[in-house]
Amino acid sequence: MAASLSRRFAVAACVAAMALALLATPSRGQLLDTHFYDKACPAALPTIKRVVEEAVAAEPRMGASLLRLHFHDCFVNGCDGSILLDDTPFFTGEKRASPNVNSVRGFDVIDRIKAAVNAACRGNVVSCADIVAVAARDSVVALGGPSYDVPLGRRDARTASQAAANNSIPAPTFNLDRLASSFASHGLSLQDLVVLSGGHTLGFSRCTNFRDRLYNETDTLDGALAASLQAVCPRATGSGDDNLAPLDPTPARFDGGYYASLLRGRGVLHSDQQLFAAGGVADALVRFYAANGDAFRRDFADAMVRMASLSPLTGTRGEIRYNCRKVNYS
Ligand code: HEM
Ligand SMILES: *[C@@H]1O[C@H](CO)[C@@H](O)[C@H](O)[C@H]1NC(C)=O
Ligand SMILES: *[C@@H]1O[C@H](CO)[C@@H](O)[C@H](O)[C@H]1NC(C)=O
Repeated sequence: MAASLSRRFAVAACVAAMALALLATPSRGQLLDTHFYDKACPAALPTIKRVVEEAVAAEPRMGASLLRLHFHDCFVNGCDGSILLDDTPFFTGEKRASPNVNSVRGFDVIDRIKAAVNAACRGNVVSCADIVAVAARDSVVALGGPSYDVPLGRRDARTASQAAANNSIPAPTFNLDRLASSFASHGLSLQDLVVLSGGHTLGFSRCTNFRDRLYNETDTLDGALAASLQAVCPRATGSGDDNLAPLDPTPARFDGGYYASLLRGRGVLHSDQQLFAAGGVADALVRFYAANGDAFRRDFADAMVRMASLSPLTGTRGEIRYNCRKVNYS
């Protein structure tokens, strides 16, 4: 049974991968290349890894936050470092967009990495967008997840869009159809949706994102979990909005706990439980990944490479920012 499911999904994954390879290929400029910095700065990747490991050792949640930072960068006009730009009196970036405000973290760590990389490279050769992509991979590895080679050579945007950030990042209130169409609009499949949502094996959510599920008799959330979450998330809007609950039972370990939770109705976000609710293909994928930890790790790594390759700026487009928080010469 497991073997035949595995074969079926391997075929489906293969067809999806072929379609996605076409979609994800940048239409202009150079392709991303895992060896992009081999000559220009062989110290770049080890330096990023060292700073990420220090940050995650000091605070395990930082690994989750850096993974999410990469997702929120890539889903808004591609993986171009646009999320890192600070607002100014003359410029509105993505940091105060609704999915990001008071929520996305890790900017200080990115600054530390940038400084360390520029010192190690004796110059400004590594883009902020590449730093975010590599830091996400190194975070996953630091918390016990799979490794993969990150295609490199992204350049940094000179613009950002709060409107696009509001509109392009899926919300935790979305049902399965909206989640799937959000991913499809980025060239990502239903399987990518299910496996990348496995990122919620790490990290935390604020009360404001799951409160509605706790005080609603008709919600599908497991009763015991609802009762324990009520203790950290009071009913009244505005009280305890930023209180945290782990997205799975082991928020600092990359494991199969997320999918096991979904099987028991213990997905924390409405969007999580939507992946195991309707009895269709998504349900079958959740069962598959709950039962096959190795397949989850392998497919997560493959899907991360696809997400990391969304619409990069390459060649002479964009720039290599000196300071990840602002565009050059501004
Ligand atoms: C499928 C649609 C998704 C939705 C609706 C969603 C939504 C959310 C929400 C609401 C939070 C809590 C934020 C807060 O309360 O401040 C969160 C946290 C997180 N998300 Fe997602 N997410 C999705 C997909 C992903 C993907 C694709 C990844 C990475 C591969 C990811 C990685 C994370 C991580 C690691 C955290 C914890 C961050 C931390 O503790 O700082 N999410 N997500
Ligand atoms: C994005 O959402 C935020 C928070 O809801 C809102 O204040 C802002 O006006 C929105 N920005 C745009 C450009 O739509
Ligand atoms: C309660 O949950 C049901 C099912 O998810 C949903 O249709 C309904 O809108 C929710 N009600 C409130 C008040 O949030």
